[in-house]
Amino acid sequence: MNNDIEKTLYSAEEIKAAAHRLGMQLTEDYRDKRPILISVLKGAILWTVDVMKEMDIMAEVDFIDVSSYHGGLASTGEIQLIHDLSADVAGRNVIIMEDIIDTGRTLKFLIDLLNERHAKDIKVCTLLDKPEGRVVEAKADYVGFQLPKEFVVGYGLDYKEFYRNLPYVGVLKPEVYENDN
Ligand code: PRP
Ligand code: MN
Ligand code: MG
Repeated sequence: MNNDIEKTLYSAEEIKAAAHRLGMQLTEDYRDKRPILISVLKGAILWTVDVMKEMDIMAEVDFIDVSSYHGGLASTGEIQLIHDLSADVAGRNVIIMEDIIDTGRTLKFLIDLLNERHAKDIKVCTLLDKPEGRVVEAKADYVGFQLPKEFVVGYGLDYKEFYRNLPYVGVLKPEVYENDN
């Protein structure tokens, strides 16, 4: 698996430092607010876990599974809700946990859904923000790294459902997906 990676963009150590920095910031901003973290499956699994461990406040966590890439290289533009939340978000301070904001479509879908359900306040904490990829307006409040225009895998991010278990974020060797299409 590691030999499919051309280069590392963010090492495990750099990601850990980002989780620490944002966890401290969230601790300060959400003291006494009892927020609910909404982890967006599957990509945000590792990021959610690492940031929440750095938050020294009372916080809930819940999961929603949405998919638009269906494992591939480009957003299909169509968001599917695969598994819904179990919590009621009405009146709650919500923090959406994402691995990456690219076209912004997934985030827009989630924000619209949470607004319909009368969340009190919605903020977004993402490991990676790729502003150049935007197709719809979407903004993250807490950002680990600004990502250049690259297709990346690892630390939750997949190509055809694999590479999520890499402990770092990296760029795939072109031959890995060229051979595949
Ligand atoms: C990826 C990623 C984000 C979303 C970002 O999820 O984890 O949730 O796409 O892209 P966007 O800004 O263009 O909408 P994906 O649909 O691949 O599902 P996954 O998390 O299960 O891999
Ligand atoms: Mn995702
Ligand atoms: Mg994916």
